[in-house]
Amino acid sequence: MNKALRAAVIAGNWKMNKTADEAKAFTEELRLILPAAEDVTVVLCAPFTALYPLAEGLKGTSVAVGAQNMHYAASGAYTGEISADMLRNLGVEYVILGHSERRAMFAEDDVLVNKKIRTALDKGLRPIVCVGETDEQREAGITDCFIAQEVIRALGGVSPEELSQVIFAYEPIWAIGTGKTATADEANRVCGEIRAVIAKLYGEEKAQTVSILYGGSMKPSNAAELLSKEHVDGGLIGGASLQVADFAALVEAAR
Ligand code: PGA
Repeated sequence: MNKALRAAVIAGNWKMNKTADEAKAFTEELRLILPAAEDVTVVLCAPFTALYPLAEGLKGTSVAVGAQNMHYAASGAYTGEISADMLRNLGVEYVILGHSERRAMFAEDDVLVNKKIRTALDKGLRPIVCVGETDEQREAGITDCFIAQEVIRALGGVSPEELSQVIFAYEPIWAIGTGKTATADEANRVCGEIRAVIAKLYGEEKAQTVSILYGGSMKPSNAAELLSKEHVDGGLIGGASLQVADFAALVEAAR
């Protein structure tokens, strides 16, 4: 992390876990033990059905609420979908877009992800944009060019002013939910590559201000080392965000 240049971010991604009642209970416990960390942006990204109790339960704390997906259209005949305005109305400030699980299981491609990013920015939501390579791509040695392509396509039509609202998360797919973690040096190297691509598009000075998170089996025991690296500005955390104590420990590690 380089807190002099950019915000440190700890974002939990609950995925399809926790009911509304469980979210409420989580906030009650979290309020008791969350370390004071004014210099860390803390976000919890919950299922749609848990967003309201989460937002209510976190009122008066510095923890922000995020969604894990949304539709790109403003409203209309999209059965089962959720719009940016619906999220904003609940007090949601962030939205994870382009997570590899959505790309792999719900056929989301770079074009769709870019449309969603555009809408999020238009509607005042901060997108947490996920990029990352598969095991096969890593083995083939094409990690950097694959990720560069994801970053370039994600940022299509995003102005330099809007870039300041965008957070990236480098999530090697082979490390998600597997217990395997990229080494801190490897995470740092790829986060640095992402920053280099942003620098080519927007200039070095702008690129230095973008927060780039690492995600993939980050937990209290490996967070400090990952976060000690120059280009790793925080974490997008799945499994370890489900327990209050672990999540609080991750916030502590980013202080
Ligand atoms: P994990 O998930 O921490 O459980 O590996 C990270 C993510 O998918 O965002």
